[in-house]
Formats: sequence, C-alpha cells, structure tokens
Amino acid sequence: MILTPTEQHITFAADALRKGKLVGIPTETVYGVAANATHAKAVEAIFEAKGRPSHNPLIVHVSSLNEAEHYVEFSAMAKRLAKAFWPGPLTLVLPLRTGAFIAPPVMAGLHTLAIRVPEHAVMQQLLQAVDFPLAAPSANRSGKLSPTNAAHVEEELGDSLACIINGGSCKRGVESTILYVEDGLCRLLRPGSITTTMIDDITSIRADIELPSNTAILAPGMLLKHYAPTIPIRLNALNVEKDEALLAFGSMVPEGAAKVLNLSKSGNVEEAASNLFAYLRILDKPEFARIAVMPIPEDSTGVAINDRLKRAASK
Ligand code: TXA
Ligand code: MG
Repeated sequence: MILTPTEQHITFAADALRKGKLVGIPTETVYGVAANATHAKAVEAIFEAKGRPSHNPLIVHVSSLNEAEHYVEFSAMAKRLAKAFWPGPLTLVLPLRTGAFIAPPVMAGLHTLAIRVPEHAVMQQLLQAVDFPLAAPSANRSGKLSPTNAAHVEEELGDSLACIINGGSCKRGVESTILYVEDGLCRLLRPGSITTTMIDDITSIRADIELPSNTAILAPGMLLKHYAPTIPIRLNALNVEKDEALLAFGSMVPEGAAKVLNLSKSGNVEEAASNLFAYLRILDKPEFARIAVMPIPEDSTGVAINDRLKRAASK
C-alpha cells in the first residue's frame, strides 16, 4: 500500500513501526525497508523479507547528530564529518556506546554500528514521529537492484510491508557513502555521492580506499554480488549489438541497440546516478540478450556508479 506523505499517514507509519511492523521509507539515496532498531523481532523480519544473510549488518537512521550520540562514540574526526555532512548521504561506522541498546541482529555480531542522519524531508518527519531509531537497509530483495521510487518498493517487498510512504524519486540514486572512522584513520567501505575528495577536505588525511585483509569483519556487505538485474550486463560498451539494450551516457551514443536509455545526455554523473537503478530496472527484460553499459567517468559520483555496475556485472 503506497501512501502519500500526509501527517495522518506518517502517524499511521509511526504506529506500525512501534508495533514491530515494517515500513517502506524514502531517503535521498534509495528507498529503505525500516523497522524499530530496538525491537529484535521487527529487525529479524527485515532479514526475512529481504532474504538477507544474517551476517550482513544494517544501517541505523536517526534524526540528528545529537540523537546519534546516544548510540555511538564519536571520535573528534567522526564529529567533524557528521557536522559537515549530516543530514545527508554519509554513513559512519562507529563503536556502539556502552549501555546503548540496539537489537543484536542489527549489528550482526560486530562491535560497531553503522549510523546516518538522512536528509529527505519525509524521512525526517517520520524520524521525529517515532521515539526509537530506525534500522533500514535498501528495500530490495537481497542482491537485487535498489529501489529509487515507491513503485519499485511495492514490486520488491510490497507483501511484507505495513505501508510504503511515497517521497517521490530519490534525488541521489546511489546508496550512502560508508566510512569506517577512528581517530587518525578513515576507511571508505562504500563509495557514494559524498566523495573521498569532499571527505579528505574535512579530515585533512586521505581516506583509505584499499580494503584490509580482514574485510569480512569490517564490511561484510562489500563481499557480496549485488545490484544485479536478471539479464547479464556488459560494461564499457563502445558499440552495441542489435539484441542488446543500451544504457548510454553522454552525447555520442552508438546506434543499433534494441532499446536505449541515456543516464545523462549532458554527461553529468550526478544526473546519471539518480537515473541508474530505475533505468537498469526498465532494461532488465528477458526480450534483451543483455544490458550494454557505456563507460562512466571515474570522477565524483561516477566512482559510486562504477562500483555498483561492477558488482552488478560480477558472476
Ligand atoms: O543509502 C543508504 O545507506 C540506504 C538507505 C536506505 O539509507 N541503505 C542501505 O543499506 O544502503 P544496505 O543494508 O543496503 O547497505 C548497508 C551496508 C551493507 O553493505 C552492510 O554490510 C554495511 O552497510 N554495514 C552495516 N553495518 C556495518 C558495520 N557495522 N560495519 C561495516 N559495514 C556495515
Ligand atoms: Mg542494499
């Protein structure tokens, strides 16, 4: 059930969450499936609905930095990053605060909690309407394309949700940047629209983008095949076959594809990111042999787009 974001519907969603039900929620990055993060059964229902492995932890969403401080310990560097980018598409992985209670399945056995303050006005309203934090992974079946509008959420998880709050199409279109932060160390676990250049400007050190050998412990989600359409993907396509669908970028588009969608005719990577998952979803049809994707420049949000495309194409 897709609901318009009226005050009455936000109250309805808040009540459902309080009772341990799941709600589809809009954020500026992608849509999420939210549960009360202090309610173990509700959180387990997220894993169940998504078919998500229980070793892959969830991001917790709160309304402000002030509220985040109830749950995690901020180093000086983490505080500077939060002040610079919250509310917004940055997730910080920080040590859980002693005495703070988050339902154990959220953290999947780690001693850290991934936390963020989303910017989307409707999600902010919902966070104000509840008195608990919201655990919310992207609202897709595990491994599939992330949803960037309410109809995608209905398609993916509709049957498991009390409702979906419609917040329009997601402005950013790729999931939040995830950073593991300790004083003197800042590690990029997932690229997003907050880039390493923007991060380095705040921290005055270079974010480490090499994942360490204990990646399985640091970032369980990074090891998985993800964002995958059902038909194959061919990357860096400069030409196209007639049975292929083409995901184009820029003004020089090869001819002859069965269907073409252009992520950004003007070659703007931010625009491309906001169209990425919706266009992949449209082209993911059995009538096409595969989706050919033109090269995307590896700068700014292009890094996040290429990260998602590589995972989508991995076997
Ligand atoms: O933009 C976003 O972050 C969206 C919206 C809904 O907020 N959420 C999202 O959640 O992308 P999800 O579950 O699809 O991706 C969360 C990622 C996973 O790769 C997970 O492994 C990682 O965050 N993660 C969660 N907690 C972690 C932790 N304590 N340490 C390292 N990685 C963690
Ligand atoms: Mg996801």
